Amino acid sequence: MTSQEYIDLESTYGAHNYHPLPVVLEKGKGSIVWDVEGNEYLDFLSAYSAVNQGHCHPRLIGAMMKQAEKLTLSSRAFHNNQLGLAEKKLAEKFGYDKVLFMNTGVEAGESALKLTRKWGYEIKGIPINQAQIIVAEGNFWGRTIAAISSSNDPQSYTNFGPFLPGFIKIPYNDINALEKALINPNVAGFMIEPIQGEAGVILPETGYLKKAKELCQAAQVLFIADEIQTGLGRTGAWLACDHEGVKPDLLLLGKALSGGFMPVSAVLSSNEIMLTLRPGEHGSTFGGNPLACAIASEAIDILEDENLIENAQIRGNQLMNFLQSLSQKSPLIREVRGKGLLCAIEINTDEDSPIAWDICLSMMKSGLLAKPTHGNKIRLAPPLCISENDIKKACQIIEQTILSYQ
Ligand SMILES: Cc1ncc(COP(=O)(O)O)c(C=O)c1O
Repeated sequence: MTSQEYIDLESTYGAHNYHPLPVVLEKGKGSIVWDVEGNEYLDFLSAYSAVNQGHCHPRLIGAMMKQAEKLTLSSRAFHNNQLGLAEKKLAEKFGYDKVLFMNTGVEAGESALKLTRKWGYEIKGIPINQAQIIVAEGNFWGRTIAAISSSNDPQSYTNFGPFLPGFIKIPYNDINALEKALINPNVAGFMIEPIQGEAGVILPETGYLKKAKELCQAAQVLFIADEIQTGLGRTGAWLACDHEGVKPDLLLLGKALSGGFMPVSAVLSSNEIMLTLRPGEHGSTFGGNPLACAIASEAIDILEDENLIENAQIRGNQLMNFLQSLSQKSPLIREVRGKGLLCAIEINTDEDSPIAWDICLSMMKSGLLAKPTHGNKIRLAPPLCISENDIKKACQIIEQTILSYQ
């Protein structure tokens, strides 16, 4: 079958809830993917940062096969011999007492909000059903009713109401707005992406996260870091919060926690917070399954053993240096932003302009896959194992494409 035939199949039988680039992928290895016609591409999206370890990592294949032959799912009605080991690995790695495994990232977000509300009632003493969670405008943490209720993006929420109450929305990177919102004694938590990924790689000012954490602490409010996209090495540190020495009260991980093999997410926190949950009050059939746990343990070890955090920093600097010099040459670029291997080019147009999409189509034809987010921002986020040479190749493609659009 040809690419077009696969695309037609999806269009006929699938929901039209995505607008993919017209490329049909069949195979991946490291930072390279191939389409059904055998064309090769540098993957500069990494499945929205889920394949930080690179596509089809042999150690993850090994861990998956080994565990799949033994036991894949036991449910949480019984113990399994992988869960505790994976919980210990994550807890020790990130310095938390407890880990709650879920599946998708949005479930980690939902779980964190439930934990925060429960902690708010049972520990902080907020009057029942009055708890508020502060979120930042431009946030993206998924598509559930809670996630879209906290969103200010019309594409996310239009015609999906009624919405969940209990969110206070403030501008991102605005410490005064946070300080004001924290005056409300019913605030239980502040949930934030240390760098906003889907919004177009928006970085707060240096010092913002640190100050925000201090203000939350002073107000007895939980600081919840959504590191589902920024975590696990993506920004050149294990966590984006590490750049400012901030330790969140609740840490959300997902995506690269499985290296792209299956949905695995987690919430990490202290005993005080996590033990507000008692048996039967929260859970998931697949959460903490032995297959996911074996994969997550291996995924963490790979990041460590292969120095992928350091590589993200070095290759990220290489990419950012290039992007900065390109932005001097091209009036088409409004701004370039990034940290580690989470970078973006903002095109000098409004969000409705098709130029960023056209650029991505051209780059695809030249062998690089990236996709616009919010219309005019092109995120560049290759797997963390990418080589110096592949970054150079990518830079050539990006430069040729952008300069051809003057
Ligand atoms: C920061 C952040 N949080 C949460 C999510 C939701 O993750 P998932 O799509 O696995 O539910 C995403 C997805 O892009 C994300 O970028």
